[in-house]
Amino acid sequence: MKKNKSRSTLLNRYQQLINISCDLASELDLNILLSKIVDAACEVSDAEEASILLYDPHKNTLYFQAATNLDSLLKRGLVVPLEKSIAGWIVTNQEAVIVDNPQKDKRHFNDIGKITSIECKSLLGIPLLSKGKVIGVLEVINKKGGAFTKEDQDVLLALGGQATVAIENSRLFLQSDSIGEFVHEIRTPLSALSAAAHLLKSNRVHEDQKKKMIDILESEIQALSNMSSSFLDLSRLESGRKQYNVIEFNIRDLLIDCHEIINNETQKLNLQFELELPATLPRIRGDRKQLKQAFINLLNNAVKFNKDEGEILLKAHQGKDLITIVISDTGMGIPEEEQSKIFEKFYRVSSHRDQVPGTGLGLSVVKQIIQGHGGEISFTSEVNVGTTFTVTLPHEV
Ligand SMILES: Nc1ncnc2c1ncn2[C@@H]1O[C@H](COP(=O)(O)OP(=O)(O)OP(=O)(O)O)[C@@H](O)[C@H]1O
Ligand SMILES: [Mg+2]
Repeated sequence: MKKNKSRSTLLNRYQQLINISCDLASELDLNILLSKIVDAACEVSDAEEASILLYDPHKNTLYFQAATNLDSLLKRGLVVPLEKSIAGWIVTNQEAVIVDNPQKDKRHFNDIGKITSIECKSLLGIPLLSKGKVIGVLEVINKKGGAFTKEDQDVLLALGGQATVAIENSRLFLQSDSIGEFVHEIRTPLSALSAAAHLLKSNRVHEDQKKKMIDILESEIQALSNMSSSFLDLSRLESGRKQYNVIEFNIRDLLIDCHEIINNETQKLNLQFELELPATLPRIRGDRKQLKQAFINLLNNAVKFNKDEGEILLKAHQGKDLITIVISDTGMGIPEEEQSKIFEKFYRVSSHRDQVPGTGLGLSVVKQIIQGHGGEISFTSEVNVGTTFTVTLPHEV
């Protein structure tokens, strides 16, 4: 790619656009796609930074989903007020806009500078329109060496058109793919339910067997209900429709909360559960409820897949930029040949399927939440020895 794009001709810019569009069309992972779009927007308009805000028509809100200048994905979900922002104006009026001095513009959302610590000197924004409806806003800021022009606007509108098609495609793909899997997964519990109901109705069941069957009915219904809510959570996380409620909080307290919740369970089951935390841990920014859910899912696995009188250890330590949280168990472990699959939706290790109940969605949810916070998750495991999951999360203190 040429470095000095300000001298490139209009023809070059459209050529650039065609190359980018081909790349966008083949990307089906929504988050990767959005980050490619913001990079492309900077490139074609000679801007320093770019961001995408998506519009939620149900809540009538706009929220950040991708940006070149947010080093972690933490700011994702940050809500921008419709009434008091240039992006909101673009949604309402369905028009592109060039603003030379946004700080002086009444519509500018002043808090955004504080959040991103970037001074906004000039801005070009366009609506992302799909079938006449706004699905979001693409904004570029700080034109390199000058002001945004009508030509920049035209090129960005062309990119926006391609980007919208790609976003809609990826959403549709995600939906159809997931719905197929979901339907496949609910078939088994549904047929168990239907068989049990049929038998109960036929009066061929002895009284003493009835209770047993009703227990089965109840547990299958519970399993379906768990699967539905995990599936919904996961779909929202994957499609970028989940908005993180970001606050600053004490991760040490969160881990103590998790220990308390799971400890009730482990005491009943005769498992030993140790918590090892340093005296202090830095505060972090994130969605407390979501992160709690992620650690609870990991701890639930450590309980479920443990052996009789086994042990669980939850510990954490602070590094330079990262906090590391480790959850280890002394359970059945994961065979090497299946280790690469356990984060896939609905995947459950074959030797565990008949022994331990579950939907196979827990770890997919965990991975989305951790990655959504700019963190990472990995694990090591040995069959009949145990499994250790390691989560790292960035802290900003
Ligand atoms: N700590 C662990 N020890 C051994 N196997 C594990 C552990 N954690 C996960 N697994 C394996 O990975 C699979 C996927 O885990 P995941 O949490 O996604 O599903 P689940 O626990 O079966 O169901 P759910 O969490 O949705 O109720 C599990 O079914 C299990 O086979
Ligand atoms: Mg699980």
